[in-house]
Amino acid sequence: MSERPVHGGRLQAAARAHNIPVEDWLDLSTGINPEGWPVPPVPAEVWRRLPEDNDGLVDIIRTQFGAPDYAGCVPVPGTQAAIEALPFLRPPCRVGIPEPGYSEHGHWWRQAGHEVVPLALELARSDPEWASSLDVLVWVQPNNPTGLALSPDQLLEWYDRLAGRGGWLVVDEAFADGLDELSLARATGSENPGLVVLRSLGKFFGLAGLRAGAVLTDATIAAQLQKTIGPWALSGPARYLMALALEDNAWQSRATVTLIEESSRLAALLDQFGLAPSGGTLLYQYVPHPDAGRIAEAFARNGILIRSFQQPPALRFGLPGDETQWQRLRNILSRINCN
Ligand SMILES: Cc1ncc(COP(=O)(O)O)c(C=O)c1O
Repeated sequence: MSERPVHGGRLQAAARAHNIPVEDWLDLSTGINPEGWPVPPVPAEVWRRLPEDNDGLVDIIRTQFGAPDYAGCVPVPGTQAAIEALPFLRPPCRVGIPEPGYSEHGHWWRQAGHEVVPLALELARSDPEWASSLDVLVWVQPNNPTGLALSPDQLLEWYDRLAGRGGWLVVDEAFADGLDELSLARATGSENPGLVVLRSLGKFFGLAGLRAGAVLTDATIAAQLQKTIGPWALSGPARYLMALALEDNAWQSRATVTLIEESSRLAALLDQFGLAPSGGTLLYQYVPHPDAGRIAEAFARNGILIRSFQQPPALRFGLPGDETQWQRLRNILSRINCN
């Protein structure tokens, strides 16, 4: 059993390690929208009844993510549930996983007995042949933590190579909301068997605690996945809120505009203090730095939690939620030696 991957958002552990009460922390260690979708009350009926598959949610998911109405669609309790289940739907094979990247993917393909081939992102871009040696390729679009995004055409070219041999392309689009032009959801369905797109309500919508996401794919994989995760995997309240959030196009448009502004503000602020990001998404900025561990530690001593990575050494900053938090970040940046 390989070790469980470590993630951001571990505020209780940081509070204990640094002896700073949880409520005094500024948590910038996740890529969760600090001004998430405003959650309305859930009707009592929704809490009482068992969730039903034919409540219209799958049609809403397909429409909102731009998938064809014939695409296989499985609502899941967070994309994590799909990340854990998908590797067990194939016999052991060779699976390419981007590194750096979201570490749960490699962990679960390994757990299911597959050979995991770490892919340097530069190689993936420069050598069109490499996909030919794989059976499955997992791509995080845009990448967490680096923010790298490739053109959907590039991904479809890789998909063709994999699909020709019965392979899969799994595209994790957890951070693609607000960046519709990057999504491969529109290509899912039976005409592209083995193309699997994961969507999450945890990031852009700021509903990580709800545990809601969706898988868009061909009918065969969708049926297998549905069977694996079983009935009622997604709670009634989660289905109800997911449908409302996905249909709230006005909120989504406003959130996209705000996040575009806030993410460039964050990039500019970090740059000003010697931490120029090499990439990012609407929800975080990625800063390669040889001293990442020391800098993250200095932030933590001041009650600000950020992510640091070792391979390669880098920092990831999420968005502050209000002006007080922006000021707090600016103050610390001006006090810490980031060179
Ligand atoms: C790239 C990526 N994919 C998937 C997930 C899982 O998200 P969720 O299970 O909340 O949908 C995360 C969570 O951090 C992530 O960063």
